[in-house]
Amino acid sequence: MAEKPAPIVITARPAQPRTPAVEISPDEISLLVDRFYADIRRHPRLGPLFEARLAGIWDMHLERMNRFWRSVLLHSGEYSGQPVVKHNALPDLEEEDFRLWTQQFEQTAAALFAPDTAAAITVIARRIARSLWLARFGTPFNQAPDWLA
Ligand code: HEM
Repeated sequence: MAEKPAPIVITARPAQPRTPAVEISPDEISLLVDRFYADIRRHPRLGPLFEARLAGIWDMHLERMNRFWRSVLLHSGEYSGQPVVKHNALPDLEEEDFRLWTQQFEQTAAALFAPDTAAAITVIARRIARSLWLARFGTPFNQAPDWLA
């Protein structure tokens, strides 16, 4: 007589909660996003670049950026999108704009948080800025600049 096949047992365990990348709360992230984009909108060079794409849909962008930063800093897994495609499609984006962006980000983070927290967030932001810069401007002859290291 043929042996009965062993039953297939599937065990689904809950995912382990991941340790946040930085000690920061969702409310603090919301504050960072609000303040950063308020600063950006007043920025003489970056303001118009953002406005050209986001006029009338800023609320949607801010919500998306909250999800993005909660995913990056708290590993909440809420963000899905195509940042490389979106930034590569901005017609007037120049290499130096990433320097201005990172400077503004550093300034906003330093104004809001304790030095350790501001530094930790800034390192992560700069790492992402570097990968966006490389996706847009990088070639074998054009490596990421030192200010994005
Ligand atoms: C060089 C300066 C930058 C400019 C001018 C810029 C501008 C923009 C604009 C206009 C959008 C909206 C695009 C669209 O909806 O079509 C956008 C989206 C976004 N940006 Fe930037 N950005 C810059 C740098 C960065 C950096 C450094 C980061 C991350 C650290 C970042 C993260 C994002 C993300 C996550 C989105 C949403 C993409 C999506 O899922 O639709 N940006 N940015």
